[in-house]
This record gives sequence, C-alpha cells and structure tokens, in this order.
Amino acid sequence: MSDKQKQQLYVRTPLIESTALSKHAPFKVYLKLENTQPTGSFKIRGISNLCKKAIEKGSKHIVSSSGGNAGIAAAYAARKLGVKATVVIPKSTPEFVAQKLRDENATVEYHGKVWDEANKRALEIASQSNGTIIHPFDHPDIWQGHSSMIEEIADDMTHKPDVLITVVGGGGLFCGVIEGLKKVGWNDVPVITIETVGADCYNAAVKKGELVTLDDITSVAKCLGALTACQQALDYYSQHEVHSVVISDKEAVDACLRFTDEHRILVEPACGAALAGIYSNVIPKLQEQGKLQTVIQSAVVIVCGGCSITLEMLNKYKSKFGL
Ligand SMILES: Cc1ncc(COP(=O)(O)O)c(C=O)c1O
Repeated sequence: MSDKQKQQLYVRTPLIESTALSKHAPFKVYLKLENTQPTGSFKIRGISNLCKKAIEKGSKHIVSSSGGNAGIAAAYAARKLGVKATVVIPKSTPEFVAQKLRDENATVEYHGKVWDEANKRALEIASQSNGTIIHPFDHPDIWQGHSSMIEEIADDMTHKPDVLITVVGGGGLFCGVIEGLKKVGWNDVPVITIETVGADCYNAAVKKGELVTLDDITSVAKCLGALTACQQALDYYSQHEVHSVVISDKEAVDACLRFTDEHRILVEPACGAALAGIYSNVIPKLQEQGKLQTVIQSAVVIVCGGCSITLEMLNKYKSKFGL
C-alpha cells in the first residue's frame, strides 16, 4: 500500500453537547458535526474507503454520477489518492456544484436531464476506461467507512446515548450507523430515521415491507432524493429498533435557519431534516404515540452537513415556505 493510500481522508469530527438545541428538548442534545469533514459531509468516510479498496485492486480512474456530496467526496478522494476522477452530472446541476467538482480536479461531464441518464453515461465511461464506478450509498465498503463515526461517538461519550437521530437518502448513512452501533455494542440504542415528504423512499419501503421506487423527487432536500433505498437499509429495519419519520420541507428549512442562527453553521435541508428531529419535537411525538418507549435523557443528532447550499439559496427557501 502506498503512502497516499495509507493517509486517512476523513477527519475525526467533534461531538459537542448543544446548549442551544437542548433548550428545545427535555433531554440533552449532542451533535456529531460531520459538516466539518473536508468535503462538507459525512460522505467522505465511506466513499474514501470504497475508493481506497478499488485503487488497491488496481483501479486508476474513479467515476461517479453524483452531483451532490457523494460526487464531491469521490473527486476529493481521487485527488488525494493520486488517480483520475470523472463525474457525470445531469444538466440541471447548478454551476457552482460543477465548479466544486472541478476544484477537486475532477473532469465534469454534463449528461441527460436526470440522474438515471447521467448514471448510464458514467457506467459507460467506467467500462470503457477500466474505471471504478462509485455508487453513492449502496456498497458494504461505504457502510464500513460511515460506521467509523459511531466508533468516535462511543469514544467521546461518557455514557451510552438513549437515542440517535439520522436522515435517510438511499440508506448508506443509516447502514453505517447500524453497523457502527453493532461494533460498539450499542445494539439497544434506538435510531430515528428522518426523511422529507417527496424524498421518502425508505419510509415507503418500511411501510410496505419491500423496496419502493418513487416516481419523482419533489423535496428541496435533493440529496435525500434517492428513488429507491438500498435493500440492506430495509433489512436492518427488522434487526434493530428503528423509527422511520417523515417531515415537511418547511420543517427541514426552518431547522436550517434556526441552526444557522443558533450554531452559526450552514447546512443543506437534507441535514436540516435531522435537526428537525429536535426542533419539530419528533421524540416527544413518538413517545406520545407509544412508539418510542425508552426514557430519553440524551440524544445524538448526526449533523450530516452538505455543501450544495449557499446563504442565497437558504433565503430563497425561507421565502418559498413563508418563514
Ligand atoms: C448531506 C447529506 N446528508 C444525507 C445524505 C443521505 O445519505 P444516504 O444516501 O447514504 O442515505 C446525503 C446523500 O447524498 C447527503 O449528501
């Protein structure tokens, strides 16, 4: 293994007790600040693990079709590991996102109207160039990488948290969380998974007991917008205490606004959805419904981050939802 491959591409992120968020809840709120990763989100944990393993097997070209945080993580990992990266993104992707990818030395190709079309092109490029396609969430190496955040939380906390709050897009983060909980022996810590209306493929799957493919993503939380969750995420639903919750876009955006004021941290609505777990009183509501029966004295929120957001965008969402 070369020196480049030995380097850790993600950082150990802070776990802080949030006085501001604890004021909104009858328990202590801890925040795992994944927004402080070099790529702005937790994604680098799992994606760098997958890229390293692919490079160890001889790959010299990383190919992604994500115009979101997974694409940025793949481009960053490829640059740090000294291999080429190509990211194919749909024509609808904002220019500032394409620029972030180029800033990481990735070759950016616009293709198609939607992700499916961009992904087909990415698969073509990968097969023609002997490259490795990096799925944004559905791979065991990704889950293994993401699970490291739970090991850090277990190291940093003096006690076991009573509940953990995370979001679900395609389910990569969630699978990593469950695997991390298993590793540290916290099998009995319930997990609340939050999605927004219009990006709620996981909630649809757990209700139906099988994977569901959404017709479209209508939520502003674009990076929660997988059409279908991964099978492993559904399988973990029956192996762990999981409460799947759907909130509105308005609640996610409201959480982003309040978090910016209270913590001076700007995050995407996808991450606002996790914070809405506190701001929108998701835990007391689940308790009232008799679904969450544990006494809650402390909760950990995974602040997953996200870099496809600007103050201007947040202000537009603010007006859109009359906040
Ligand atoms: C900031 C952020 N949070 C959450 C998610 C959802 O992660 P997953 O698709 O692994 O469930 C994503 C996915 O891109 C993301 O970028």
